[in-house]
Amino acid sequence: MTRIVPAQQGIEEAAKLILKGELVVFPTETVYGLGANAFDEEAVRKIFAAKGRPQDNPLIVHICKKEQVEEIAEDIPEAFYALADRFMPGPFSIILKKSPKIPYVVTAGGETVGIRMPDNEWARALIEASAPLAAPSANRSKHISPTSARHVYEDLNGKVPLILDGGACRVGIESTVLDLTEDVPVILRPGAVTADMLADILGEVSLNGRVIKIAKAPGMKYTHYAPDSEAVCAGDIRAAVREYDRAVSAGRRPVIVARDIYRDVVGDRQIVSLGITADDCARNIYAALHAAEKISDYIIVEEIKGQGIEASVMNRIDKATGGRRI
Ligand code: TXA
Ligand code: MG
Repeated sequence: MTRIVPAQQGIEEAAKLILKGELVVFPTETVYGLGANAFDEEAVRKIFAAKGRPQDNPLIVHICKKEQVEEIAEDIPEAFYALADRFMPGPFSIILKKSPKIPYVVTAGGETVGIRMPDNEWARALIEASAPLAAPSANRSKHISPTSARHVYEDLNGKVPLILDGGACRVGIESTVLDLTEDVPVILRPGAVTADMLADILGEVSLNGRVIKIAKAPGMKYTHYAPDSEAVCAGDIRAAVREYDRAVSAGRRPVIVARDIYRDVVGDRQIVSLGITADDCARNIYAALHAAEKISDYIIVEEIKGQGIEASVMNRIDKATGGRRI
């Protein structure tokens, strides 16, 4: 059975479980993580089993202080330290050459490893009291990422002994993933640390072919973050409303997921709000999709336009809709 315990009360018990080779779910500022001792091969295998995650999708190792990078990676470039000074702790992961101490199950057989220092005091307290944690998002593979303990429970009840409840995640979308092993660092997954912020420190980064070239994290070939109901993205709120009305006429139960600025256009149609600002949209997108899939069989998401964190939110919307636009 799975227990949910307030994070501040559960650290000691959670650390014991980790050191015994068990899994623990912990809060981070991005999404909840499903953690195991990164140096314990058998424990890490349990993550793949609990999530139903394909073995060829590598895990990020979570640390609580910068010095720990030296146990996890090798040939660490100067740029790592410059980036770490600016963005760690924070919603940011860096890919480096792996150390032999990290088992290949963590890296899906590859020679590189992802490292992140979460900006959540309970996550860091747990790591401090136990070990660096290999941890993916704590959802079943392909479902929406969890931004509350309740979301985790719905996906993983019975598959993990303990969930540390740290409340709603502050950032709400997964960390930016930057591959530092390439000549030009490549953003494999956009997030709250944006390309501009990274280019500021590195001089150049590559993202989506827009700046230099496109690259994909191994996990990106799977549809991620998909709700259980069909979902599409509408180019603007009027298109969303038209699609909603069509769906109602066809006997469906649609819902609109949109910013909270269109009361007059949306009227009394069913809506799940993303809030107002771009940061609100990031914080709320997964909770909104979780809520929407429960009340409807057809989710119509408003397109969020913009270059910064808006683009990172759109990346998740495209994953949820499989890129379907209307
Ligand atoms: O915000 C986050 O990063 C959250 C929280 C829990 O820290 N974690 C998370 O993990 O999103 P996960 O496993 O759901 O996504 C990690 C992504 C995957 O797309 C994976 O393929 C990529 O990072 N990744 C991990 N290690 C990699 C590596 N060595 N090389 C390339 N991509 C890697
Ligand atoms: Mg994930």
